[in-house]
Amino acid sequence: MGKQDKIFEKGNVSGLPFSFNQEVTEVFEDMIDRSVPGYNTTLRIIQQQAKNHYIDGSNVYDLGCSLGASTSSLLNALNGRPRVIAIDNSDSMVRFCTERFSRSIKAEQVKFLKEDISQSEIVNASVVVINFVLQFLSIKERVGLMQKIYQGLVPGGVLILSEKVHFDSKKRTAEISNIHHFFKATNGYSKLEISSKRDSLEGVLVTETESQHIYRAKELGFKDPTKLMSNLNFLTYKFQK
Ligand SMILES: C[S@@+](CC[C@H](N)C(=O)[O-])C[C@H]1O[C@@H](n2cnc3c(N)ncnc32)[C@H](O)[C@@H]1O
Repeated sequence: MGKQDKIFEKGNVSGLPFSFNQEVTEVFEDMIDRSVPGYNTTLRIIQQQAKNHYIDGSNVYDLGCSLGASTSSLLNALNGRPRVIAIDNSDSMVRFCTERFSRSIKAEQVKFLKEDISQSEIVNASVVVINFVLQFLSIKERVGLMQKIYQGLVPGGVLILSEKVHFDSKKRTAEISNIHHFFKATNGYSKLEISSKRDSLEGVLVTETESQHIYRAKELGFKDPTKLMSNLNFLTYKFQK
């Protein structure tokens, strides 16, 4: 585990919107672990699903890989077979991954690319993972990316998608958000840290509802939407080609 996340300990001092910069990269493991309920279970689900759906000779993608946690799950699932393509547009995240994985025997099985995933090429894929990333793209980019993934998947290939969501009912959204803030508080975040991070994410992380995600995926041709996990306002889905 890297450094403890204290970025918003004194509020949003910089006043800037949230971004995946060097400061966030250094504390990211701690940040996501204390902020996303069920995050570690998601990583195990990714491993199990990749094991089930990987097709020999195909590519596996981790889009928005951050520090490579899902990449590691994919590598464990593939058990030595090439190859995972892990992409992120944060310079510091990609530098960290490249350095961390270069020391591993699995280094030759993974390629890290610093790219905007909206521009990335996706070909011959049997497993594509987007673990809490689509929410940072504009709605137009989400459609384009999902379409590109569908086209890049081989028949029978799968997309594993995790997202933070809101609900149709404002009352339910508020109630579940309160529980999520309680979850963060029990993980040691103060009220100031929770509200400052929420404010800095305003307009940066834009949630949709579960049904909006399913509708878009089906419209693009994906079938069999299957909910693999649900933890408060965080979901993991599998969509199949
Ligand atoms: C919440 S983190 C993802 C966590 C990671 N998938 C995991 O399983 O640990 C979101 C990541 O998406 C990346 N990201 C956001 N928009 C992106 C884009 N357009 N292209 C590439 N990466 C992007 C960010 O830099 C960040 O590292």
